[in-house]
Amino acid sequence: EFMKELKGVSHLEEQLMLQLDLDHVVVVPGNSDDLSWVKQEMGKACVRYMKGILHKDNTIAVTGGGTMAAVAEMMTPLEKAQNCLFVPARGGLGENVENQANNICAKMASKANGNYRLLYVPDPLSEEAYQTIIGEPSVKEVLELIQGANVIVHGIGDAITMAERRKTPESVMDKIRSGNAVGEAFGYYFNAEGNIVHKVRTVGIQLEDLQHTNCVVAVAGGASKAQAIASYFKQAKSHVLITDEGAAKELLKGT
Ligand code: BG6
Repeated sequence: EFMKELKGVSHLEEQLMLQLDLDHVVVVPGNSDDLSWVKQEMGKACVRYMKGILHKDNTIAVTGGGTMAAVAEMMTPLEKAQNCLFVPARGGLGENVENQANNICAKMASKANGNYRLLYVPDPLSEEAYQTIIGEPSVKEVLELIQGANVIVHGIGDAITMAERRKTPESVMDKIRSGNAVGEAFGYYFNAEGNIVHKVRTVGIQLEDLQHTNCVVAVAGGASKAQAIASYFKQAKSHVLITDEGAAKELLKGT
């Protein structure tokens, strides 16, 4: 029975790799919408994957969110990759502190026995403030570390869930709704075709920057996130997806 389940999951992995043009996919059994331990399993799978690719002195940029919090929770000392540096991928994006990239970055670093640097910037930012802030030496230094990250690990969210969680102003909510946004990642909101409907102005990794990193790992699961995951991959390029059976089956429906 267990072997049968494993075989089913590895079939899903192969199918998803083809469908989303990925280098590597991990599907953990179950649906994290229904069972919270499935999210922990994704966290564990992500840590395992990271341990296989990280080297000594690497820099890892991480986003916020509950799924990334599970990755941080499951992290253990990186014995083969000493002295790694963790940085937040972007600013706080209006999230509560427990979901913020800074918080998750610090937690992950301490569990990994690594180091961290944080970003102290208010956000979202006006264009004017953005230009001033990116010129500040202390911010500039961290931004350079972020831009030079060897590995980026990020979550993907449902657009409306994310917009509401971030207490997005009503005018922006309207834009997100009328643009039919379904997915969100790195503060960008995407419609089902993968077009960008809205972007939260803040410092850190911009979508274009993903092209300069050859190891971008997305961690997102739950059947309810299938549309969001699909929309993200129509626009952006991550190389690896760590997900669950719930999302994988939904993503593969109709193929
Ligand atoms: C946020 C990231 O903090 O977490 C988003 O900035 C991501 O880009 C979201 O979509 C995912 O959150 P969760 O809780 O569904 O893992």
